[in-house]
Amino acid sequence: MAQIEVVNVSFQYPTGHRAIQDLSLSIDKSEKIAIIGENGAGKTTFARLLNGLLRPTGGDVFINGLNTKAATTAQISRTVGYVFQNPDDQIFNKDVITEILYTLRYFKYTEEEIAKRLTRVKQLIHLDNLLEENPYNLSYSVRKFVTIGAVLANETDIVILDEPTAGQDKVGLDKLEHIINVLNQEGRTLITITHDMEFVVRNFDRVVVLADSRLIADSDKRQIFWNIPVLEKAIAGNPEECLLYKELSFAQIFLQQLDKAGESCRNGIKHCEDKKMKAEIAYNLAYTYFTKKDKLNFDNWALETKKWADAGDRFTQNIDKMKMELNK
Ligand SMILES: Nc1ncnc2c1ncn2[C@@H]1O[C@H](COP(=O)(O)OP(=O)(O)O)[C@@H](O)[C@H]1O
Ligand SMILES: [Mg+2]
Repeated sequence: MAQIEVVNVSFQYPTGHRAIQDLSLSIDKSEKIAIIGENGAGKTTFARLLNGLLRPTGGDVFINGLNTKAATTAQISRTVGYVFQNPDDQIFNKDVITEILYTLRYFKYTEEEIAKRLTRVKQLIHLDNLLEENPYNLSYSVRKFVTIGAVLANETDIVILDEPTAGQDKVGLDKLEHIINVLNQEGRTLITITHDMEFVVRNFDRVVVLADSRLIADSDKRQIFWNIPVLEKAIAGNPEECLLYKELSFAQIFLQQLDKAGESCRNGIKHCEDKKMKAEIAYNLAYTYFTKKDKLNFDNWALETKKWADAGDRFTQNIDKMKMELNK
């Protein structure tokens, strides 16, 4: 069993909103993973399911073989450290040092151990002259590092950072990059939620994409990112123009660049003679509108797709499924 096993997990909030649907993945010890996806995709909900702040309403999460449903949140938090998306939801102490050492004191670590851990944390977050400050006098980006420090102090095997790059300048991003490298060298598993694609490309190999409460991609970044600039360059005047537009729009859909994907699809269809290929690109366009929940445009492109696809084609079947989803 991998260190983290997520098996057919769904999560429904008491409001009835299904924020995670039938999600499965495995994460091995020491992996470094980026989770991307648009706002509301379910990223934070997923992170909270991993560290036991939430329990699945369907399926199971196993951490080192332990089902989170059979463990207390305190137990899980000894293995999985989670840095909240919004630092203000995490911080509750009146000065930085108390915040960072809170859990260690709570679990009654020796003063010697606490001092040792504090030295390590200070080397990573570089807030030495702010330790006595009230966190609320500090900027958002600095408060984020306070919360990171508080999680790092616990030296958990697994660390989850929820949007650490938001609001960070170059110095902050470099500091984060350093922290990620150190944690990785120490053999810890690192899961980072971020919208900063450049940060993803620089620091992670495995990329998980969530969209609309589902996992839509989980692969090496090269498979997701690498082809975009190459495809863009290769397109104009290439005899395979049409195929390249199809690939490009597909990659853009993966990356949630839906407006760009729409444009690539329209260009592709314009240049395309082959009926089958037209169906594929029209399908990508229909899918783009499906993702945007734009029913009217979806319907138009669903019709176009069906016009060009062969009867019984998988596009036709998928389109019908999407239509049902949209009409729910
Ligand atoms: N406490 C909650 N109660 C009800 N719905 C929630 C709650 N938290 C989040 N949601 C909803 O669940 C969906 C996913 O939210 P979230 O996991 O925060 O997404 P992300 O982190 O990808 O932006 C959103 O539609 C959000 O409005
Ligand atoms: Mg979030």
